[in-house]
Amino acid sequence: MKIGIMDSGIGGLTVLYEARKLLPQEAYYYYADTDHVPYGEKTAEEIRSYADTAVAFLCGLGCDCVVIACNTATAVAAAYLRNKYDIPVIGIEPAVKPAVERGEGKRILVIATPLTAAEKKLHDLILKVDEEGIVDVLALPGLVHFAERGEFDSEAVRKYLKDSLGQDTAEIYGTLVFGCTHFNHFRPVLRSLLGPKINMIDGSEGTARNMKRILEEKGLSSEKSPSIRYYVSGRELTDETKLAFYRDVLKHLSLCRETDV
Ligand code: DGL
Repeated sequence: MKIGIMDSGIGGLTVLYEARKLLPQEAYYYYADTDHVPYGEKTAEEIRSYADTAVAFLCGLGCDCVVIACNTATAVAAAYLRNKYDIPVIGIEPAVKPAVERGEGKRILVIATPLTAAEKKLHDLILKVDEEGIVDVLALPGLVHFAERGEFDSEAVRKYLKDSLGQDTAEIYGTLVFGCTHFNHFRPVLRSLLGPKINMIDGSEGTARNMKRILEEKGLSSEKSPSIRYYVSGRELTDETKLAFYRDVLKHLSLCRETDV
């Protein structure tokens, strides 16, 4: 199968990482829309148009499905794109429901981009599952900028996180929900700042499982020739230094994907 995965940048590599664990033999086409990152600071109309361009491009490459590996683009564009394209368009959303189910009543903090944090879609989701009123939302726009520079742990990252989260996060919250795929890259630094007790959960694994189920239902046969090709805003990445950056970030994810929930 040919599987397209898109995000505004390196965030969706988490979904690529999880997808390859489940379907290692397929041909993956990773589209990072770096001309337009960060999506979380754009308007819904702009993001819809960028995501549309990405999906059209991946369809043009013959992809059998496209995963919108971006919570922000899923929130504002997934319904529109599902309507428009014949192939399955799979989205990702903050894993609030599993966090509430497994959280033993402790408070939950969803961290996301400014757009996702303000979107009705997230607040509707929270209203549906948060009967006790224990879910809070915090926008952390700075992390996307750090992530795109490959800066996952530094004095500046630690200061930003300490200033944004405040002092008592680890005492107040039992679970941190990553509502932006870029944030997974900061799991080790968050763990070191917040200690061993807080659960960390994100939707990448669930999204990959959903993708596998949908492709199996379609009965598509395996490529049996694993490959990954990278594209930035529609241009294939051939520059070895830039390719090495994407490959290194994908490798770094094995450190970040501790399964603690
Ligand atoms: N990785 C994206 C998300 O999951 C968006 C980050 C951004 O470009 O602002 O929301």
